[in-house]
Amino acid sequence: MEKPKAGHVVPRAVLFDAYGTLFDVYSVGLLAEQLFPGQGQALGVLWRDKQIEYTRLVTTSNGGQHYRPFWELTRAGLRYACKRLGLDLTAEREDRLMNQYRHLSAFPENREVLQALKKRGIVTGILSNGDPSMLDVAVKSAGLEDLLDHVLSVDSIRKYKTHPEAYALGPQATGLAAPQIAFVSCNSWDALAATWYGYQTLWVNRYALPFEELGTQPTRTGSNLRDVLGFFPAG
Ligand code: LAC
Repeated sequence: MEKPKAGHVVPRAVLFDAYGTLFDVYSVGLLAEQLFPGQGQALGVLWRDKQIEYTRLVTTSNGGQHYRPFWELTRAGLRYACKRLGLDLTAEREDRLMNQYRHLSAFPENREVLQALKKRGIVTGILSNGDPSMLDVAVKSAGLEDLLDHVLSVDSIRKYKTHPEAYALGPQATGLAAPQIAFVSCNSWDALAATWYGYQTLWVNRYALPFEELGTQPTRTGSNLRDVLGFFPAG
């Protein structure tokens, strides 16, 4: 196993992003394709982009007074994406897609990675834009509740990532400084902003995408969650 990089302490906690990182949103794309043949992928991408765009819009506008929980922004993003693509989103289709989003499966390596971290005495958690009820269902459906010490939702501060107060929830909950925490995300923008915030970061590049072109690199890049173990000395 690769040694921890010089200049970095061995992290004492690992916090994971949720959607796309711990929980696989692929099944939503499959259902979208079933409901709208030939358009599932386009819908999945536009839906996700709008959902994230809305989080930024409500966080940066008018002192946050337009804040709405992630579940509502997810629904709004779906409605926009369908309108934009000219897809007929009936109430029944909307319910099915939203329901699928609520019951996402976990990536297969999750459990063993969380178990390996717990065995080393590492504090584990989620730090997500998802609201508490969404995260609760996702964590329980994936059977991960016994392996996570913290499930942190930005809903408590009504500001979405990449606002620094959102990333500050990690140090507040764990009592550790940001550089003592490894933050793991599949989203390059999230890995970048967490690096800017001061966390050690792992960008899990599952889909062989380019990283953001803003001059900062994550501490580490991997291809699945197992790569988080690279932060820790072997043994
Ligand atoms: C989250 C989204 C950004 O879980 O993936 O925070």
